[in-house]
Amino acid sequence: MARPEAPAREGPEPPKGPATADTRPRGASAGPALELGRRYTTADLGVFTTEEASRFLPQGSGDPQNDLILAWELLYRLEPELYDRLAGAERLHPGIVGWLPCDVDRIAEVGAGTGRLTMELIGRGQHVVAVEPARPMRLILERKLAAADHGHRARVVHGFFDQLPLPDDSADLVVACSAFTPAAGHGGETGLAEMERVCRPGGCVAILWPNHLGWLAARGYTYVSFPGPMSVEFGSYADAVELAEVFFPRAAGEVRRLGRRMVPFEVLGTNPPRDLAFKVLAG
Ligand SMILES: C[S@@+](CC[C@H](N)C(=O)[O-])C[C@H]1O[C@@H](n2cnc3c(N)ncnc32)[C@H](O)[C@@H]1O
Repeated sequence: MARPEAPAREGPEPPKGPATADTRPRGASAGPALELGRRYTTADLGVFTTEEASRFLPQGSGDPQNDLILAWELLYRLEPELYDRLAGAERLHPGIVGWLPCDVDRIAEVGAGTGRLTMELIGRGQHVVAVEPARPMRLILERKLAAADHGHRARVVHGFFDQLPLPDDSADLVVACSAFTPAAGHGGETGLAEMERVCRPGGCVAILWPNHLGWLAARGYTYVSFPGPMSVEFGSYADAVELAEVFFPRAAGEVRRLGRRMVPFEVLGTNPPRDLAFKVLAG
């Protein structure tokens, strides 16, 4: 096993201090970047639909300044383009993409976001269904698919891990990338059972860039990791500085000092997207 059990990839660090709505920038638009843990307030929680609130605010309330996972959910809805800039820079290890089967008929992806993985899947499956709950993320993904070769192979649908809007045994490959966790709001036992329900006998369920390896191993998942140095490939040095201030605030000074657009994952203090856990279902 290449690395120890880790918490959610975002590595929640308790935010320090309040932010006010009128000082918060939105995306790249204005002002100095404000780190994710201070970017949103309880005033932003109204963006959730009732269904989303039942998953992400199970006690009926929450404070994104004390709950980084919640802040990520707000990011997906309030600043999806900002998320997309980050995901575009954090490219998957080519070994992961190469590992995926390239000649399957039906692929289902859950938590597809703005399509970091989906755009790879459309070259590999005849029919791809991308499940994503956050409407602003779906809109970006739909826009990308409309412009891409093979984009017509994918359809984007609303749904959550724990209630996938897909029939039993309807996919040869069921995947999630940087989306599944053992927490009930982000997958959990029910979500994993749903992914396995949708996968046909003999098909494969794969969790890409997993965080809870022991949890998955206990459920019959095999770990694979691809070696080699990996960097986050920001669009420019200015992009690296701006995105580091938001997403990797503890590393922002070092990113500035390095003075380049390519920043090794170790510098940012986060594990690279070089691994996966998979299970082939009994045939
Ligand atoms: C870190 S993003 C990853 C997106 C994309 N797979 C990628 O690799 O860039 C996590 C995604 O999971 C989605 N998500 C969060 N909770 C979910 C749930 N309960 N069911 C399905 N998707 C969920 C979010 O809306 C978001 O798009």
